[in-house]
Amino acid sequence: MLTCATEMDVRLSHVCGGDGACGTCRIEVVEGWANLTPPTPDETYKELEPPYRLGCQAKLLGDVVVKVARIE
Ligand code: FES
Repeated sequence: MLTCATEMDVRLSHVCGGDGACGTCRIEVVEGWANLTPPTPDETYKELEPPYRLGCQAKLLGDVVVKVARIE
C-alpha cells in the first residue's frame, strides 16, 4: 500500500520507513478490505482493528478505497 501510494503521488507518513514500528502510516479502509493481505503481527500488536491498517504492512490484492491522514 505504501509503495502504491508513493507511486500515485499520495503522501503517506512513514516515519519508520515501512518497518511496521511507528504507526504513522495508518490508513482507513473504506472499501475493499478483502483485497488486502491479512494483518501482520506488527498490526496485531498495535491492536489495530477494522477499518484501520498500516499502509506499510497491508499489501494490495485488488482494488481498495482508503483514507489517509492529511500531511500539512
Ligand atoms: S511506516 Fe512506520 S508503521 Fe508503517
